[in-house]
Amino acid sequence: MSAVSIIDAIYRHLLQRYLFARDAERAHRMTLRMLAALPAFTPPRDRPELGIKLWGIDFPNPIGLAAGMDKDAVAIGGWVTLGFGFAELGTITPRAQPGNDPPRVWRVPERRALINRLGFPSEGMEAVAPRIERIRKAGISIPLALNFGPNSDTPPEGIAADYTALIERLGRLADFIVINVSSPNTPGLRNWQSPKKIGELFEAIREHAGASPRPTPVLVKISPDLERNELFRICETALALGVDGIVACNTTVVREAVGVSSPHPGGLSGRPILIRTRELIRDIYTHTRGQIPIIGVGGISSAEDAWLDIRAGASLVELYTALIYEGPGLIVRIKSGLADLLRRGGFRSISEAVGIDR
Ligand SMILES: Cc1cc2nc3c(=O)[nH]c(=O)nc-3n(C[C@H](O)[C@H](O)[C@H](O)COP(=O)(O)O)c2cc1C
Repeated sequence: MSAVSIIDAIYRHLLQRYLFARDAERAHRMTLRMLAALPAFTPPRDRPELGIKLWGIDFPNPIGLAAGMDKDAVAIGGWVTLGFGFAELGTITPRAQPGNDPPRVWRVPERRALINRLGFPSEGMEAVAPRIERIRKAGISIPLALNFGPNSDTPPEGIAADYTALIERLGRLADFIVINVSSPNTPGLRNWQSPKKIGELFEAIREHAGASPRPTPVLVKISPDLERNELFRICETALALGVDGIVACNTTVVREAVGVSSPHPGGLSGRPILIRTRELIRDIYTHTRGQIPIIGVGGISSAEDAWLDIRAGASLVELYTALIYEGPGLIVRIKSGLADLLRRGGFRSISEAVGIDR
């Protein structure tokens, strides 16, 4: 029996039962504490064919942790230990805020999904900065992305200033930045996906980052609930503005159309959004003629899922919800399956496969 199957068996038979008997958010806090307490451990080097270089950054493998799992950057060492190729931390807001009142996270186990209406609980950028500084000084083997969002009490005219404050304070600590304009749980935020608003935002960001000799790449994270023509207009705006990448996608407010009937409000993630995400990736890749790197995220829970997203046009992928259902051995299993799929398909690297199914 391999180490990974032992970890999986322990998770399924013991830890998952224990955690699932508790409220989803409490279980999440316990998991983060466990991961933060793991002894520092450098996992075996990834197979070279799984590596990919984007924006001048070397990713040891294309599987990343999605935003929301480690909002305050408390368990970075744990993500390295699990085998992730990069981690997206956040959403971080400028000032600390509690988010919405609980309950605000629900499991939908029969659909391997989650629903959340957290509303950006964040310890704020001043609490997060020293944690990332410390880990940077100690040395970290994977790239870190920081995901930024505005405070919920910021008026519309102050939103751009919230993003630029975050970039000013934390930008130099990030390998790349993700501008989150797609959470369904902060009222009005998704309006910032309009091409006009994205234009305003990136103008402010560029003015701010202009002084740096090697600007940090800035990506935008979008919603799966966009109409196709809205998506195409965003793609054109992203090309015109020179946006460094698109993260597709955040959680959805749709329920019945993806086969979920649940009374809980908020954003749905996990298996029900897998196909929608892949359509989005393919549309973005085609419409931008592969000129903008895409990070595919939504419902990935196996090597095949990651592989099909890559073939649809994603250069990197991320996951969150599947970790809850599949356990900590998942990343190692996906990486090994992905290496097999590459070999069987006759590909020498991930980048050779990006977008071939468009
Ligand atoms: C509980 C929870 C909290 C999340 N919080 C954030 C967040 O703060 N910022 C963000 O950009 N996305 C957030 N997300 C969305 C994920 O990053 C991801 O886009 C989405 O869950 C789809 O991936 P998955 O199906 O693998 O979970 C959150 C998702 C979940 C389940």
